[in-house]
Amino acid sequence: MVYVGDRFVAEDEATLSIFDRGLLFGDSIYEVTAVIGGRMIDNDLHLARLAQSLGELGIRMPLPREAIVGVQMELIARNRLDEGVVYLQVTRGVADRNFAYADDLEPTFFAFSQAKNLLNAASVRDGVRIAVVDDQRWARRDIKTTMLLAQVQAKRIAAERGCQEAWMVEDGLVTEGASSTAYIVTADGRIVTRPNSRAILPGCTRRAVLAVAKRLDLVIEESPFTVEEAVNAQEAFLTSASSLVTPVIEISGRAIGDGKPGSVTRLLQRTYLDLALSNQAAAQ
Ligand code: PDD
Repeated sequence: MVYVGDRFVAEDEATLSIFDRGLLFGDSIYEVTAVIGGRMIDNDLHLARLAQSLGELGIRMPLPREAIVGVQMELIARNRLDEGVVYLQVTRGVADRNFAYADDLEPTFFAFSQAKNLLNAASVRDGVRIAVVDDQRWARRDIKTTMLLAQVQAKRIAAERGCQEAWMVEDGLVTEGASSTAYIVTADGRIVTRPNSRAILPGCTRRAVLAVAKRLDLVIEESPFTVEEAVNAQEAFLTSASSLVTPVIEISGRAIGDGKPGSVTRLLQRTYLDLALSNQAAAQ
């Protein structure tokens, strides 16, 4: 079952207008929330970012926040989703094709769930290989729009090189992964990740994982890093709703550390999950 047009329908009965601005212009915002054991992880952060992204584009929230949570929970229940993700998309709405838009368009809102192994994914367990590509995106990467062609192409290049993710580079510095936040751990144990700005998406998992690192008294350095620094790092990892904390074992064909997931990465992975799951248990 999926949610579209204010109701739950079977996925093959879901319809959208071909005049939807999400389709014609990529004029839309999305969010992806992880579900583990039937419970959503960091969903408050995802809904806050949804509101932020919509606000940046001047699109109305389609429903009150609590109603959106209701749709997400109903999708999980109706699809008996134990582990996977819930996806939400809000577009500016439907109108005759015209770059200019009226301010009173009714936003389109749809949502679906996807079953997916998160905890026992091979990538989370064994780590992933990273391809390095140019960052070809627009200048407002802090807004979670569905204009994802640069990332689609980056993932394609990564797959052609036998990699599972691409790290995008601009002016010699890593911005982020095609669909994840990028981190390295230096030989002296500092966790380095790019500071939030318009150059990257402010990851919800990033925020939660950095809070975990702080609790563990680990040293965090929010600064950009080069590809050279990354390939010479002690460890590297990435985070996102769907990949949680995933070790990086190779970048551009060069092994990171001893080519196996590092100990700081493992500690963060374990602690983040324990905390996320216990927070959810307390909240529900
Ligand atoms: N992507 N950076 C980019 C470009 C992303 O697309 C994502 C998430 C992240 C991590 O954000 P978060 O921790 O809030 O998931 C960083 C989602 C998972 C996707 O497109 O499927």
